Order: sequence, then C-alpha cells, then structure tokens
Amino acid sequence: MNRDSLDTPTDDLRAMADGILYINRGEPGRLRPLVRAVRDIVEYAAPLVDERIGRGGSDFITVLAEGERRGVFTRHQVLVNTGLLLFASRTIAKGDRLRWIMAAANRDPRVLADPDIFDIGRQPNPHLSFGSGIHYCLGATLARIEGQEVLRGLAERFRRFELVRDPPEYQPSLQFPSVKSLPVRWPA
Ligand code: HEM
Repeated sequence: MNRDSLDTPTDDLRAMADGILYINRGEPGRLRPLVRAVRDIVEYAAPLVDERIGRGGSDFITVLAEGERRGVFTRHQVLVNTGLLLFASRTIAKGDRLRWIMAAANRDPRVLADPDIFDIGRQPNPHLSFGSGIHYCLGATLARIEGQEVLRGLAERFRRFELVRDPPEYQPSLQFPSVKSLPVRWPA
C-alpha cells in the first residue's frame, strides 16, 4: 500500500477493507487487490499484536495475543482474526451483498456437539455443507453417493491406512477449507 497517499488510520483501514471486499466482486483480476489487502492488513495488525503480548488487558486483540503466548493460537490465526475485526461490524444497508461462511456454521457448538471433532457417525448431523433453502446443492445426492462409494471401496480394499502427514496441509481459504493433498499409506 502507498501509505504516503493516505492521511489517517481510518483511510488506511477503509482502503484495506475495500481491497478485502474484492473477494465478492465478479470481475477478472480481483485477486490482485484482494491479496494486496490481506498482506497490508496482516502487516498493519502485526505491531498491534506485538505490543499486546504479555501486557495484560481485556480488549479483544490482547485476548488473542495472550492465546498466542499460551500456544492456543498461531501467529497467523491471531493476525487474520485481528485483521477481520478491524473492519467488521459495519452497518448493513438495504441492497448490500452479504457473504455467509458455512464452515463457521458447521462449527457452531449450539447446533453440533463437539463440532471440532470429525465424527463420521454423527447423529443428528444438521450441517450446512450443501447450503440450504432454494439454492440447496443440486448435486448433493450425487456427491453423497460418490463419497459413499469411495469410502466403501477404500475400506473394503485396505484394512487399515494412515495419514502420511498429520495434520495435512490446507489450502488457504476464507470460505471452504480443503486439503492441498491427502497422501495415505498402508501396510504392505
Ligand atoms: C461434496 C461435494 C459438494 C459440496 C460440499 C457442495 C456444496 C454446495 C453448496 C454449499 C451449494 C450452495 C451454494 C449457495 O447457497 O449459493 C451448492 C450449490 C450447487 N451445487 Fe454443489 N456441492 C457439492 C457437489 C456438487 C456436485 C457433484 C454437483 C453437480 C453434479 C453440484 C452442483 C451444484 C449446483 C448446480 C448448485 C447450485 C444450486 C442453486 O443455486 O440452485 N454440487 N453446492
């Protein structure tokens, strides 16, 4: 970001928020300003977190920084959440576009018991991975059958297999967490 052209921290934040909101734009080339804004906001948040580590206090950034000090959060988690908070909670005006994060809904402890645990037999399982309402995923049944056949085939062919890398490496994503690859090995 060219900070010389910006007068106040509010201008900085506004510019960064506008950059992040490129995520919603349907235009080609939207990734460049988005990536730049994410980098700028992380750069902006880093000293705010640094000065709060070990300082004590109850403001939200201090709580996150304390989590990092205790090993609960990584530096990356603290910075992206601090960044998010710096421009969140805006007024929602009529006609504004909203983005909902299904991955977060699936971790709601008021709806799913132990939401952070992968439990393949979870019952009931009111997850939102295929969306909801009029735009509910058209391919949900096909996707379920495919998943069922893949998992059944693997279980029938290999008595046991294990992750080569645990935890696996994830794609950076705001919307759908997914693994870059999932190499497994099984005993000969
Ligand atoms: C595990 C695999 C899949 C997941 C997690 C998934 C997830 C989703 C989600 C969350 C939506 C709703 C998006 C929204 O509300 O705007 C959606 C919509 C849709 N999905 Fe899937 N999907 C999967 C597989 C598939 C497959 C295999 C097909 C087609 C063969 C498919 C076709 C569609 C279509 C056409 C829509 C748009 C429905 C509409 O807007 O009315 N999906 N999917």
